[in-house]
Amino acid sequence: MAGVDLRGRTVLVTGASSGIGRATALLLARDGVQLVLVARSRTSLDEASAECRTLGASTLVVPADVTDPAAVQAAFDAAQRTFGPLDGVVHSAAALAYGRFEDIPPDVFDRSVETTLGGTATVARCALAAFGERGGSLVVIGSLLGKMATPFMSPYTTAKWGVHGLVRTLQIEARSTPGVGISLVWPGAVNTPVYQQAGTYLGRRGRPPVPVDPPERVARAAVRALGRPRREISVGVGNHIMVAGFRLVPALFDVLATPLMRIAGLERRSTEATPGNVLAPQPAGDAVHGPWGRHWLRRLVPSGLALAGLAMWHHRPSPSTRSPQQRT
Ligand SMILES: NC(=O)c1ccc[n+]([C@@H]2O[C@H](COP(=O)([O-])OP(=O)(O)OC[C@H]3O[C@@H](n4cnc5c(N)ncnc54)[C@H](OP(=O)(O)O)[C@@H]3O)[C@@H](O)[C@H]2O)c1
Repeated sequence: MAGVDLRGRTVLVTGASSGIGRATALLLARDGVQLVLVARSRTSLDEASAECRTLGASTLVVPADVTDPAAVQAAFDAAQRTFGPLDGVVHSAAALAYGRFEDIPPDVFDRSVETTLGGTATVARCALAAFGERGGSLVVIGSLLGKMATPFMSPYTTAKWGVHGLVRTLQIEARSTPGVGISLVWPGAVNTPVYQQAGTYLGRRGRPPVPVDPPERVARAAVRALGRPRREISVGVGNHIMVAGFRLVPALFDVLATPLMRIAGLERRSTEATPGNVLAPQPAGDAVHGPWGRHWLRRLVPSGLALAGLAMWHHRPSPSTRSPQQRT
């Protein structure tokens, strides 16, 4: 699919019912791609499918849990029966839970890792088999947390480090299978429902720390990678700075990580413990966008104006430097 027009191609999207996966499906629908939409909740998939069809795309909805290899294989089989050979796969499905490691129930920890890392292995296995000698393009949505660590997100960080390791291995192995492209898109914070859908055992819900990108920005990177595979695409202006801090000054990073997480990465309001959508889908919470948007810009603008005002006041001419007319 390198550098090709996507019109008429077939692409399977996991996590297609919400956030980045749904934004990617909508973008591909505009490009005239035949879409296979995969996630657990049929209700949310049907909604996403209706939106894609409005844009002119042909769609196939296949509810499947990525922790169930037989269900994922069945989705790939159904895709090829309906639309013929598969040209691309965007794998976006993941589920996460907040809490100190020892407070997260083992079944929730395990299922989050199984979904986010095990699901990636299962989807990649099915994708490579489906591409065969004809080739195809697999795009995996990784994360900034596949390159650094943060407190209170141990299942997700564990899984995403594994995802990045798996994708890099597949990229090296794919050198011997020309025609197969494997790309990693790793976003920073994105305005999707994932933070409200997540489990929490911390007494507080997560929220995206600034800067927050819209899911459409990640979707555009994923669609670019489908047509022109790339080893890595970072989405998020702060990503490289955060990774550099984590790697170059780990002691300072560890001192700052917990207070910064509490200030920027968690809601203020307290909340009950919940597994969120880790063990079962929560269709009512699925959507393309979360509620955060550019809230950080709204905070930055008044702060910026206040700082500019302070700077102007500080640099105002002193009485001794004013002209005689000004002194009157
Ligand atoms: N939002 C961010 O700030 C951010 C930042 C970095 C990376 N990412 C990555 O971006 C990707 C998409 O996240 P998002 O923010 O778009 O999340 P989201 O809005 O919560 O969407 C998650 C999707 O995964 C599906 N899913 C969850 N568990 C599943 C399972 N067991 N089997 C099949 N599908 C499952 C969900 O549908 P069902 O519940 O119906 O199954 C949903 O469609 C993830 O890989 C995430 O790690 C997100």
